[in-house]
Amino acid sequence: MSRRFRALVAHPQVEALGELAELLGGLGLAVETSRSTVEALNKLRSQPAHVIVSYHVSGSFDGVGLLESSILHSPEALRIVLVTSPDEAVELDYRPHHAGIIIRLVAKPSERSRLVALVGEGVKLLNLVEEQRELVRKLSLDQQKLQRRETLLDVVVKERTKELEDSYVKLKIANRQALFGLAEAIEAKDPYTKGHCGRVAAYSLVLAREAGYPLEGLETLEFGAFLHDIGKIGIKDAVLLKPGPLDDTEWIHMREHPVKGYDIASKIEMLHPIMPAVRNHHERWDGSGYPDKMKSDDIPLVARIVAIADAYDAMSTDRPYKAALPLEECEAVLMKTAGKMYDPDLIDVFVKRKLGELYREDYADLPYDDGQAASSS
Ligand SMILES: [Fe+2]
Repeated sequence: MSRRFRALVAHPQVEALGELAELLGGLGLAVETSRSTVEALNKLRSQPAHVIVSYHVSGSFDGVGLLESSILHSPEALRIVLVTSPDEAVELDYRPHHAGIIIRLVAKPSERSRLVALVGEGVKLLNLVEEQRELVRKLSLDQQKLQRRETLLDVVVKERTKELEDSYVKLKIANRQALFGLAEAIEAKDPYTKGHCGRVAAYSLVLAREAGYPLEGLETLEFGAFLHDIGKIGIKDAVLLKPGPLDDTEWIHMREHPVKGYDIASKIEMLHPIMPAVRNHHERWDGSGYPDKMKSDDIPLVARIVAIADAYDAMSTDRPYKAALPLEECEAVLMKTAGKMYDPDLIDVFVKRKLGELYREDYADLPYDDGQAASSS
């Protein structure tokens, strides 16, 4: 039998102490005894008890005083006072409720069974309370463990998310570098186009923004504009770099660059989104363009935007055999060709908002030549 709960018995008589100790010990309690109330209180000070039983005789053995004092050291204890007659310890009837409950039993043999029953119930209650406390403690520990796991999981998820975000940013940077590398490859092949790809991308971006192009598509549009002439990689140097005018056969070859670019882009997954800009930037609003002879709204919007940016840059920048046109003249040409070569609504935005002016100062002195002015190729 485990003796997890303690009892203290105070009685002046040795025989009675022995008898009470035996009774309480039989209920599984670890019993301490004391023949004086002072000694009993000292014992309680050093080790609180769960059950306190004290004899009481007014004037000679102050059991009630002991039980009242024990509240300080053993506040939750079951307190029982044994009196010689029902009239003893009458002061218990006038005690305030908050002063702790003291049960009064008459110290005669017939009351012993009541004492055993009472303490037995008390021990059951103590066991229940202990079990409940243990349960609460376990639950609290489990909850702490769970919280620690959640915190750990949260940290791991945050770390992984950060790593993924970092990787994504690195991948995007690598993609950009790869795409810009391709653009540089085009420009390296044809030195006259130096800066042209960047300017077309810049004009395309600003025109797209002003025309209400979806924000989430702007990055793809920028790449598309940057790499719209990627197909020129496949054009013979003799044609691409020819200083003079091209003959009919050479023009036919030159005009293959959108499809050549499309074929290149179709083989590289990250270039798939820009395929419309590459293939269709030489389509014309009236259907006179190439390679698919698309008309008006059938031409992908990105291609219509790039076509205007491409034409404007061709006109507004110096070439070896043709000086740059002033902004107003470039705008006049664009307006004249609106609805024939280019999307009239986009031309309207480009001219009315003076979009050519926005980048003119930055790019005007850069050499360029994409081999095709607004009215050529
Ligand atoms: Fe082109």
